Amino acid sequence: MTAKFYITTPIYYVNDIPHIGHAYTTVAADILARHNRLKGKKVFFLTGTDEHGQKVEKAAQEKGMSPKEHADMMVENFKSLWTKLNIHNDAFIRTTDSEHMKTVQSILKKLWGKNEIEKRSYSGWYCIPDERFWTEKEVIDRNCPECKRPVEHIAEENYFFLMSKYQERLIHYIEENSLFILPEARKNEVLGFLKNNPLGDLCISRPKQRLSWGIPLPFDDNFVTYVWFDALVNYYSAIKYLINPHTHPSNLVSQLSALGSEDWWPPEHHLIGKDILTTHAVYWSTMLMALDMPLPKNIFAHGWWTVDGKKMSKSLGNVVDPNEMVNTYGTDAFRYFLFREVPFGLDGDFSEQALIKRINNDLANDLGNLLSRTLTMIEKYCEGKIPRMPSYDIHGEIDIQREIHLKGLVEDMNEAFDLSMERLSFGHALDKIWEILNAANKLIEDEAPWSLWKTKNIDKLSSVLYTLAETLRIIAIYVYPFMPETGQKVWQQLGSDEKIGNEIHIAWEGLKPGQKIRKGAHLFPRIEKV
Ligand code: MSP
Repeated sequence: MTAKFYITTPIYYVNDIPHIGHAYTTVAADILARHNRLKGKKVFFLTGTDEHGQKVEKAAQEKGMSPKEHADMMVENFKSLWTKLNIHNDAFIRTTDSEHMKTVQSILKKLWGKNEIEKRSYSGWYCIPDERFWTEKEVIDRNCPECKRPVEHIAEENYFFLMSKYQERLIHYIEENSLFILPEARKNEVLGFLKNNPLGDLCISRPKQRLSWGIPLPFDDNFVTYVWFDALVNYYSAIKYLINPHTHPSNLVSQLSALGSEDWWPPEHHLIGKDILTTHAVYWSTMLMALDMPLPKNIFAHGWWTVDGKKMSKSLGNVVDPNEMVNTYGTDAFRYFLFREVPFGLDGDFSEQALIKRINNDLANDLGNLLSRTLTMIEKYCEGKIPRMPSYDIHGEIDIQREIHLKGLVEDMNEAFDLSMERLSFGHALDKIWEILNAANKLIEDEAPWSLWKTKNIDKLSSVLYTLAETLRIIAIYVYPFMPETGQKVWQQLGSDEKIGNEIHIAWEGLKPGQKIRKGAHLFPRIEKV
């Protein structure tokens, strides 16, 4: 049976417009989804929006709208950004979808029936932006220990998920499953926390008189569900109704897949930012344990972007709008930059200058020039047609060692590239691509095809140009998950009408001699502004 690949992003709060942090995780998931589709896997890539809770309710109130009207409006900002960033998600979940709400309620009922939930009186400090309670000991001068914003004191009755009893089991699980939480340093943080602090129970309700914007508890109508409990369940509820071919006939996955919805569980990756690791690694994992469900194979927590060395914040006015970046620099350049500049998992700094430098050096020079030089030479020396590769017989009349070397590099990269992608080491995967681009550019310098033309060394010239064109055809496939349009443009300019889509054709000599090339505009014109 074909392997399946289920990948998720966090579902984003609709209280505000998307920024670079949202774009980062979603593009990462898109890269992995595209890569795994090329590997022939059945992919389900889920993203969506988190639409309940106090923060979202407050944002709607401030605009004088109902929370649902406000969510309906805000969700479009995410959807349109995903289109702009060329995100091919298979489904988009909203926590206000009635099917999602039903699943949350049925899970609550199940846990209530299993005595995993209890009613208690409670007092604590609540941080609205983070949507979570802190204890007296944890707050610092009436401020949230995490985001440093003021907290509110709240005393009330609530329902608790009995999370504490899973502490030992969770520690054990994390220790036994080395790939469960990545990067390694983040796993150690979670383990350190679990080993050194008693795990409390999780307050999973809010009284309706304080917050009405949520999913009613199925066993007590005076309460709504805590937004994080509701949100985490999205990963499971989506496979129950968003893959269904009857309710979603246009869904790509439903057409491709004969998998039943339960077969999609568990996900291969939950991609998240480091700030929401506890909610995923601890809350969600223990919820799944209580439900006797398998845990996700991997939770990967990436780092945070600063901007020109400073924390990104509304008050500093330095929030990076991905729409603006795409309008100025293009989708592919922006996608590339995010994964080239900083190793996935670490914090990084965004600056337009660094982006421009990457565009000029890596994209315009190394990649764009390689394509345009190769095609110009094919136009000039081969009547605009892909030349025929002479036989690879090195004892023959021409020495084609350097071409054989480049071909070898291209053929050998597959395994290392796949391994890097499996580990989410996007930077290493891109290194592999650039090693080949550098080697191809070096072949041009070393063999100087213009001299071969002058001396009418046509066999050798054909060998060099075929090798360059074929290298570009294959590299386009590897580039495609990161820069889908660019990969496709390389194929078009090489004269191919095929779509780089659901399969990889990486075997050498895929390019047909005689194919008419269609040299077009430079892939990445240099940017002169400083
Ligand atoms: N709604 C919750 C997630 C629920 S998932 C079941 C949430 N939403 S959010 O809109 O606040 O988006 C959060 C995502 O953006 C997180 O993964 C967070 O790490 C990421 N980022 C927010 N600021 C960021 C940066 N400056 N840099 C990188 N990512 C950042 O939390």
